[in-house]
Amino acid sequence: METTVLAKFAVFLSLFTLCMSVPFAEVQVPQFSIVNDRPIVGVALQETSKGSKYGDTYVSATYVKYLQQAGARVVAVRAGEPLEYYTDLFSKINGLLFPGGGASLTESQYARTGRIMYNLTLQAAENGDMFPLWGTCLGFELLNVITAGRNILKETDTENVTLPLDFVPGFETSRLFSKAPGDIVQYLQKEPITQNEHKYGVLVDDFNNNPKLKNFYRVMSTNVGKNGAKFISTFEAFKYPIYGTQWHPEKNAFNWNPHYVINHSEHAIRVAQYFANFFVGQARLSSHHFPSVEEESAALIDNYDPVYSTDGTFYETYFLNFTRSAVANNHFHM
Ligand SMILES: *[C@@H]1O[C@H](CO)[C@@H](O)[C@H](O)[C@H]1NC(C)=O
Ligand SMILES: *[C@@H]1O[C@H](CO)[C@@H](O)[C@H](O)[C@H]1NC(C)=O
Ligand SMILES: *[C@@H]1O[C@H](CO)[C@@H](O)[C@H](O)[C@H]1NC(C)=O
Ligand SMILES: *[C@@H]1O[C@H](CO)[C@@H](O)[C@H](O)[C@H]1NC(C)=O
Repeated sequence: METTVLAKFAVFLSLFTLCMSVPFAEVQVPQFSIVNDRPIVGVALQETSKGSKYGDTYVSATYVKYLQQAGARVVAVRAGEPLEYYTDLFSKINGLLFPGGGASLTESQYARTGRIMYNLTLQAAENGDMFPLWGTCLGFELLNVITAGRNILKETDTENVTLPLDFVPGFETSRLFSKAPGDIVQYLQKEPITQNEHKYGVLVDDFNNNPKLKNFYRVMSTNVGKNGAKFISTFEAFKYPIYGTQWHPEKNAFNWNPHYVINHSEHAIRVAQYFANFFVGQARLSSHHFPSVEEESAALIDNYDPVYSTDGTFYETYFLNFTRSAVANNHFHM
């Protein structure tokens, strides 16, 4: 019984995708001097397939462990809640990761969470309040769709492959790479480490022809799909602490599904840890906090038990149901 439902869930995910630059006058992200050594980072939940008996929304535990290994605690950011839930949580957590998966980028509650938190992130940064965002795979695609204001994804045929990054000249002066040790950069450049699990992506030509994207993000790497399409694989926002990878840094150390090509070499693990440390380092620059230790503890994802099964894509998954205050039944449209 359990097996069937999880298997269905896995099929749903694979059907739906598994994820479906010249700078303008460069503006530096303001320097933040805060050091918050108790960072708490959100991970956005997304809807499961209809009828999943495990719950209405989920996040793979790989993202949770990925953040925890770098010294963050994790809060699940619920889907379908009223706006006040997000503004309140935003003031208490220190960053947010949009994970991969299979949700719609224009009509899901995951997409709605994305738009709300993205807006809050921009507003905060403009007021000198640091709050970093990271998008991985579907999360990366979501950032593109939000910034572009429309869905610009095209087919790239890049499921189940590990690739070295094709760095864009000047990548080493980006915030994400400027402090990367030389060996980490070399591994990324020469070894098949970055795991790609997406059918769609943002083509380099489409990106360059879209002023909203081109003026907002600095591209540090591209890759080529099995169909020859050249797509954006790593970027950061020029003016905002927003980062994205089309590939999956959380899989190397935390996804052991043998049906996928995932690089677990020592080099791959060190590369992945670099990105986790970088992002959690950004979260340490945020001074947001819960009003009390009790409220902080009650909000952590540690309050929930993940479901472990080797039948799904992720093996270990947190499921949460919509709360009674959720507005999830109101269909969200971009
Ligand atoms: C979600 O609700 C369903 C139906 O009430 C229940 O079977 C399931 O265990 C719940 N899941 C979680 C994670 O609470
Ligand atoms: C985000 O901000 C944009 C531009 O200010 C606005 O059009 C949009 O409605 C906002 N979206 C949400 C979900 O708050
Ligand atoms: C992933 O690729 C490997 C190696 O080519 C192959 O054995 C495996 O079946 C593929 N998995 C999926 C889910 O396509
Ligand atoms: C992982 O990367 C190493 C080099 O670090 C390479 O030798 C190996 O073939 C790669 N494994 C996979 C599964 O891509």
